[in-house]
Amino acid sequence: MPKINLKLLKNQIKKAIGSAKDLKELNDIFKRYLGKRGELTQVLRSLEKLPKIRRAKVGKEANELKNFLRIKCDQKAIGIKEKIRKETAKIEWIDITRPGEKPVLGHLHPLSQVKNKAEEIFQLMGFSMVEGPEIETEWYNFDALNIPKDHPARDLWDTLWLKDNYKLKTKNYKLLLRTHTSPVQIRYMEKNNPPLRIIVPGRVFRHEATDASHEINFYQVEGLMVDKKVSVANFKAIIQEFFQKFFKKPIEIRLRPGYFPFTEPSFEVDMTCLTCGGKGCSVCSQTGWLEMMGAGMVHPNVFKAAGLNPKNWQGFAFGMGLDRLAMMKYKINDIRLFYSGDLRFLNQF
Ligand code: FA5
Repeated sequence: MPKINLKLLKNQIKKAIGSAKDLKELNDIFKRYLGKRGELTQVLRSLEKLPKIRRAKVGKEANELKNFLRIKCDQKAIGIKEKIRKETAKIEWIDITRPGEKPVLGHLHPLSQVKNKAEEIFQLMGFSMVEGPEIETEWYNFDALNIPKDHPARDLWDTLWLKDNYKLKTKNYKLLLRTHTSPVQIRYMEKNNPPLRIIVPGRVFRHEATDASHEINFYQVEGLMVDKKVSVANFKAIIQEFFQKFFKKPIEIRLRPGYFPFTEPSFEVDMTCLTCGGKGCSVCSQTGWLEMMGAGMVHPNVFKAAGLNPKNWQGFAFGMGLDRLAMMKYKINDIRLFYSGDLRFLNQF
């Protein structure tokens, strides 16, 4: 049995606590004496080995020392905390007379503003807003839109393919980042019977070189109207009305013959370039016209793929570039500015 000198231990404890500079040091001291293998803990554990006569006396003293250590540590901790508080108060004081600072508030990105405006106008014309997935199957992005595997028309869209496949019914289809919003035509017509009028705003992706009017990731608004009797004249009227409302002035548009496997006939819709006023610039490739959308009358095979009888229904569809719409509205000469994250650009909207 080691000789227990509690008086010496008490002096050591007093000295150690007295010189502790911070809470960590204080905690270490507490552990040194009262931790699992602490010096005082060991004394308390060895009490049972003492002869009975000594046990009561030493036990009382050891327990008193334990309480002493606890109280002293608590007092010292309060002192240290108060010191920290005072020191911090000296540095971190609040000047309540100082004028308040205005918090910097963000705002909607110009593309979101344009998307909201386009939705509002189409909704006023009776179109409902629908969304679809950005990761799409090859079936909805191509096959169901009358673009079978290995058909050269697939080359019209430089596609970003994903590694994974997806099982649809019994067949495995490759996954991709949708190249246009047109797949939502099929998805919607599978579940909803005509007559219908929808718009589908959303993000699309293409593996192509960028320039002033082309990005690899941009936004489209798909439009689809299906009824018993729908014609190109209806399309033209709706689009002209849309442009008039969007730009708040009459806009010159032209329809050029085009080719899309999912519409017949197909056309491209150009508007006079507002960046240069039709004179020719880098945005419109010096032509004075900017291609805003592809469009056409829904192909019978598209109706069939969606489970509808093409003999019963007619419709038009279009896919408009939302970024290009924003470029025309704000006279922006490079589409890449939208995705640059440059606040000097974004703060202007
Ligand atoms: C399509 O994507 C067709 N799905 C459009 C369509 C829908 C046709 C329904 C018929 C029926 P296209 O690849 O031409 O077509 O793109 C449509 C519009 O998206 C273009 O007119 C243009 O405004 C915009 N666009 C195309 N590529 C880019 C690009 N790289 N960057 C920015 N906008 C683009």
